[in-house]
Formats: sequence, C-alpha cells, structure tokens
Amino acid sequence: MNLLRASQILTLTALFFVVGCNPGDGDGTPVDNDVSAHTPESSVAASDEHSPDEMIDKAAVEPTPTDSTKSEPKEEEPTENTVTVPTSLEVKLGEGDLLTGIPGEGPLKLETIEKWLADSMNHVTLDVSLPMGLNVGKIPEGVLEDNPLTKAKIELGRQLYFDTRLSSDNTISCASCHHPDKGYAFDSQFGIGVAGQEGGRNSPVSYNRILTKEQFWDGRADSLEAQAVGPIANPIEMGNTHEQAVKTIAEIPGYKVQFDKVFDDGVNIDNVGKAIAAFERAIVTGPSADDYYEQLKPLKALDEEIIAEEEDLKAKYDMLMAGAKEKPMSESAIRGNKLFFSERVNCAACHVGANLADEKYHNIGIGMDADEPDLGRFVVTGEEKDKGAFKTPTIRNVEFTAPYMHDGSLKTLEETVQHYNKGGTPNPWLSDKIKKLELTDQEVADLVAFMKACTGDFPNVESGRLPE
Ligand code: HEC
Ligand code: HEC
Repeated sequence: MNLLRASQILTLTALFFVVGCNPGDGDGTPVDNDVSAHTPESSVAASDEHSPDEMIDKAAVEPTPTDSTKSEPKEEEPTENTVTVPTSLEVKLGEGDLLTGIPGEGPLKLETIEKWLADSMNHVTLDVSLPMGLNVGKIPEGVLEDNPLTKAKIELGRQLYFDTRLSSDNTISCASCHHPDKGYAFDSQFGIGVAGQEGGRNSPVSYNRILTKEQFWDGRADSLEAQAVGPIANPIEMGNTHEQAVKTIAEIPGYKVQFDKVFDDGVNIDNVGKAIAAFERAIVTGPSADDYYEQLKPLKALDEEIIAEEEDLKAKYDMLMAGAKEKPMSESAIRGNKLFFSERVNCAACHVGANLADEKYHNIGIGMDADEPDLGRFVVTGEEKDKGAFKTPTIRNVEFTAPYMHDGSLKTLEETVQHYNKGGTPNPWLSDKIKKLELTDQEVADLVAFMKACTGDFPNVESGRLPE
C-alpha cells in the first residue's frame, strides 16, 4: 500500500475511535468491521453461537457487499493441451441462476441431464459469500467442508425437494410444507402429510439455514443433512421408508446418473440428505430495509467529506444509500427497531444475530396451559430447565409465515407481540427474560412494522423440471 493511502487509513482509523465504531486494523476497510447490527450490548452474552466477536471476524474476511456477484473462476496455471478446470468458483448466494434448474422447459430428459453433468464447471466447489445483512453471520464450522456445495449437487437437491415421488403415495414433497410461495413454510396450523395427516407442530422455514446447525423446534437433528432425511420416513409426513425412497430414486435414470456423478457412492439415503441440505443452504434471502438502516448507521455518523475520500467506503455508502432508497424504513419501523433492541423490551435478548435468532431454546409459555403440553427441548435433553423450551425462530421474512409459534397457535404478528406484552403464559419454566412489557398500542404497531421491515427478496427458484 502506498504512503498516501496508509496515512488516509490511519486518519480514518483515528476517526473511528472518535465516533465509537470498531476501528479496522489498517486493512483499508474499517467499516466492514462494524457489524454490530442486531447485537445490542445488552445481549452480547446471550449468544455464543453467533457471538458478535465471531461475527466481526467473519465479516472482516467476507467480501464487502459492494463487490456483488463474482463468478470469476480462480483459474489454475494453464498447461499445454489440457483443459483447465478451476478449483473453486466464487458465488454470491441468493443471486444468479443457482436455484433455477437445468436450463430449458418441461420435465428433464436423460440426455439433457447427461449434457449438464458433462460440464465440469457444474462440479467445481463453490466458494460462497452471503448477501448483505446475512453476511454479518457465521457459517458453522465444518459444514461446507463436510458437504461441499457444487452447482450439480444443489440442482440435484432442488429436484428432490420438489419431488413427490419421495413420499409413500406420490403426493407429498418437502415443498408441500415448506413452499416458496408460502415463505418456505406453510399457512396451515400444522404440517399436513400423506393422507391428510397432521402432526402437532407448525412448519418452520427452510431458508437461511446455512447459518444454523441444530434443526427442528427442539433441535433434535444436529445438522441439515440429518434433518432432511427425517420427513421421508416420518409416517405422518411423507410416510415412506428410506429403503423404498432410495429404490424409487435409483430406478429413475435421470436421478441415478446424477447421484453417480455427484457422489462417489451413488444413490443412498445419506446422499439424499446431503443433496437436499446443499439446496437448502443455497436458499438465502436478500437485504431488508432494516439491514440497510443498520449498516448505514455508523456511516451516517461520519463526515461526508471523509467518506468521499475513501474509495471503498464511498462505494459502500452509495450502495447502502441506494438500497435504503429502494427499501425505506418507515418512522414506525424505526421506532420498532429501537424498542426491539431496547433494554426495556429486549426482544433481542433472544432474537439476535444475522438471522435475528440466537439458535438457543427458551420457554416463552406457548402451549403451556394445555393439559399435556409439548415439552419441546426437554424431550431431547431430559433436563428440567428445558421443559417447554423451543428454538428461537428467525424474524427475517416472518410476515409471510403465519400462523406463528411451534404450535401455530398465534395467527398474526400483532398477536405474537401481545403474547410478550402480557408477559407470556405463566408456568414454572418460563424464561426469566419474559416479563410484562406494558406496551402502548402504538408500540405494538411499531414492533410489527419493524418485523415487516425485516423482509428481503427471495431467490428465483424452479419448482418443477424434475427427471422423467
Ligand atoms: C407434512 C409436512 C412436512 C413435510 C412434508 C416436510 N416438513 Fe420439514 N418440517 C415440518 C414441521 C412440522 C417441522 C417442525 C417439526 C418439529 O420441530 O418437530 C419441520 C422442520 C423442518 C426443518 C427445520 C427448520 C428449523 O428451523 O429447525 C427443515 C430444515 C425442514 N423441515 C426441511 C424439510 C425438508 C428438506 C423436507 C423434505 C425432505 C421436509 N422438511 C418435509 C413439516 C414438514
Ligand atoms: C426469551 C427469549 C425470547 C424473547 C425475549 C423474545 N422471543 Fe420471540 N420467540 C422466542 C421463542 C423461543 C419463540 C418460539 C416459541 C414457541 O414456539 O414455543 C419465539 C417466537 C417468536 C415469533 C414467532 C415466529 C414464528 O416463525 O413462529 C415472533 C414473531 C417473535 N417471537 C417476536 C418477538 C418479539 C417481537 C419479541 C419482543 C417483544 C420477542 N419475540 C421476544 C424467544 C424469544
């Protein structure tokens, strides 16, 4: 770095101290380190999964949101007479054609699939970055190493996700309960499986799972891979057996060739789980009004002249300003944001981090007045403190996924806020973070407006186009 640039950065760093932001360590991108969005001081201790420190580390190495989609392959040194295939391909999740299926129309013919599989670029490991907003989060360690993402694997998972042939009577797919048109959840109180059977829990969302490890309301699956194969053999969901599902898939030539090419060991239930998990990890949602608002905060505290002087900073500022213009925060949503993160209301004691969810389990009293309440996390751990505790769900795009809570008992976002307002449902295991709030009607409306400002764009996804 030249001297002039170094001195500018020093000035900037000094200024960051002055305004109380996290200074950069001289790498020229001090602002990237301010990812305190959604992590108020009061709740710093509440989350160790997505602790702010880790988030900062991650964000520091993450490309800035301004450098948008980069699909430039990292070329290897070309040698004579060999076709060079890059070792990895940079992709920004949520953009481009990752989820839009093998190009073309209608059911997938074997020869179309074979042609797609022959393209070595579809098998290159993807080096992924997250959309702005989500990129303050941290992808759990080992997840992508254990099950590397490739275009071909994601596409295979997409087909399986939408394929009713995985169920016992060819009527139910994952999308039956986690449909893209229903915010990747479903609008019935409980999931409805084969022969119209209902379970006792509401369908949670299947997007932005790349940032999470434990799955289900009670966290009983410790990975997306483990989760994905569960519904297939669940008698009231897809009602199949793993053996039968694997046999069905192996008999469809279009699937067989894909499994044989994507995995060393062809069609088996573990690989079904891996492909579906890969697809789910690629479903991420874009920046929300609140993301722009939060990330602009530290920049707005700076002098415009200083921003104008630093190229990277200026580009980021312009990108955020343009985004904020496109997705403005209403006054009500801004007040809601302040309440949500305030010490008095403190929704962020649990709804914190990139997904506005701490990935932990809490009893907020839902369903606890029933004769035989669902004991949630307790059934997994056997620990008294976990009775009636459920995993904190994300607030991103929550406006699309009514009804709410593990039992789908609350119909609107207003009702969810009123539940907290009255201090939850009293029971011996109620979280000590839940207490009467005494919110005014306006404050209730503001919190709802804030939650609606946490909606981002959904990626384009092809829901048909399955192997013949
Ligand atoms: C009959 C409806 C139904 C079907 C079919 C179904 N699910 Fe679910 N899904 C649910 C319900 C209900 C839950 C919550 C269950 C629980 O927590 O005990 C759930 C939980 C999940 C979760 C956990 C999300 C979280 O926040 O922890 C994921 C991911 C998921 N399903 C993906 C899938 C995939 C992939 C398939 C297809 C292989 C599938 N589901 C099939 C209803 C369904
Ligand atoms: C003690 C931790 C905690 C606090 C504090 C908290 N929540 Fe929650 N929230 C949860 C848990 C856990 C659930 C799921 C509970 C269940 O289903 O039994 C939940 C569920 C929700 C849901 C339903 C989402 C869905 O997809 O079903 C919304 C909306 C919500 N909370 C908003 C808020 C708001 C607004 C506040 C502040 C007024 C708040 N939460 C405070 C832990 C918390």
